[in-house]
Amino acid sequence: MSIDVSDLRDRFPALRRMVHDHPAAYLDGPGGTQVPESVIDAMARFMRAGGSNHGGPFVTSRETDALVEEARSAVADLFGARPEEIAFGQNMTSLTLSVSRALGATWMVGDNIVVTRLDHDANVWPWVIAARDAGVEVRWIDFDPDDGCRLDLEHLDRTIDTRTRVVAVTRASNAVGTITDVHPVIDAAHAHGALTYVDAVHYSPHGLLDVAALRTDFLAASSYKFFGPHTGCLFGRSDVLERTAAYKIRPAPDDPPGKWETGTQSFESLAGVTAAVDYIASLGKGDSRRTRIASAMEAIGAYERGLSARFLDGIAAFGGITLYGRKVADGRTPTFAIAVDGVHPDTVAAALGDVGIFVWSGDYYAVEVMRRLGVADRGGLVRIGFVHYNTIEEVDRAVAAIGGLST
Ligand SMILES: Cc1ncc(COP(=O)(O)O)c(C=O)c1O
Repeated sequence: MSIDVSDLRDRFPALRRMVHDHPAAYLDGPGGTQVPESVIDAMARFMRAGGSNHGGPFVTSRETDALVEEARSAVADLFGARPEEIAFGQNMTSLTLSVSRALGATWMVGDNIVVTRLDHDANVWPWVIAARDAGVEVRWIDFDPDDGCRLDLEHLDRTIDTRTRVVAVTRASNAVGTITDVHPVIDAAHAHGALTYVDAVHYSPHGLLDVAALRTDFLAASSYKFFGPHTGCLFGRSDVLERTAAYKIRPAPDDPPGKWETGTQSFESLAGVTAAVDYIASLGKGDSRRTRIASAMEAIGAYERGLSARFLDGIAAFGGITLYGRKVADGRTPTFAIAVDGVHPDTVAAALGDVGIFVWSGDYYAVEVMRRLGVADRGGLVRIGFVHYNTIEEVDRAVAAIGGLST
């Protein structure tokens, strides 16, 4: 399989609009991906059909029950999980706060938890505040800015021990694009009886997720990063979801996954989540949705490495531009953090925005990454990110615009 970008761009109304309104534009992938028409249709279909709350003895409610089950199956296929291991929530941050609070209630003084400096704050601070509430120690896994912002996997035995209760780690950095080899982290955690929580939000549009192969206890993603609407998706190992007491109100279910879902879900979004997973699957081949997703992700990865190589080659030619993170296309997502000498990141982002290139400046909530790179006090960095619907021409346009700002 390969990606035919000209074909699939027609499926995204926002891309059609950009071509019309802003002929130079490409959209910043990591800030949130665009959605295909099929996702919008699925959401509108639910609203038009008079969708009601779930669990009632009438047809529209039964339809909603079925819709929720379909969304669990779809995300289970995306994650390589089982439907009963999937819970939904407002976003990844809320789900993580909810899990960290619930697990934190079981920790005791003398325990510790482990977080990384490479993570988005949504997989750092929920654990830090839960640790603070429980009076337990917070330990950090560092990354090496001089080695492609790679996580330090060499000293795990100094960080994780028998009193470690949770290790939270990112599958890929939303700031500098590093793809993390989470296997050694998960193995070290499990060897000491700790639970693992993987943040897959940034990785999910770029590569195959496989919770069974990772053997993680939790994994969280957010559908607006994988071509769907704004809804958080959580995988939790059944026995852990079962035995952990969720913070919930009395009428909510006592069993997982429902006990992890607060209040009324955004059912229209869940319709969109299923359609987003089906969109990804439609880019691949195979007998089942899972195999089509795997084949699509392989094609997406290969195509995106081409975009990355083009970007990296392009900006290497300019003086006065510093790229933070891996300088080669493999082992990273096509998300790049750069600084332009002498120009504030906000000014760079605004200048690129003026020529139709929509990128972010600042820390994009990757607070620890910016501190570790020593750029937090300088306004952070500029992040330029591509996904599989971007073209080589758009990469060239972004490179040329950055070149225009360099010395
Ligand atoms: C790597 C990463 N983790 C977590 C989040 C938070 O996700 P949400 O907005 O769904 O809370 C983001 C959002 O940008 C992210 O990029």
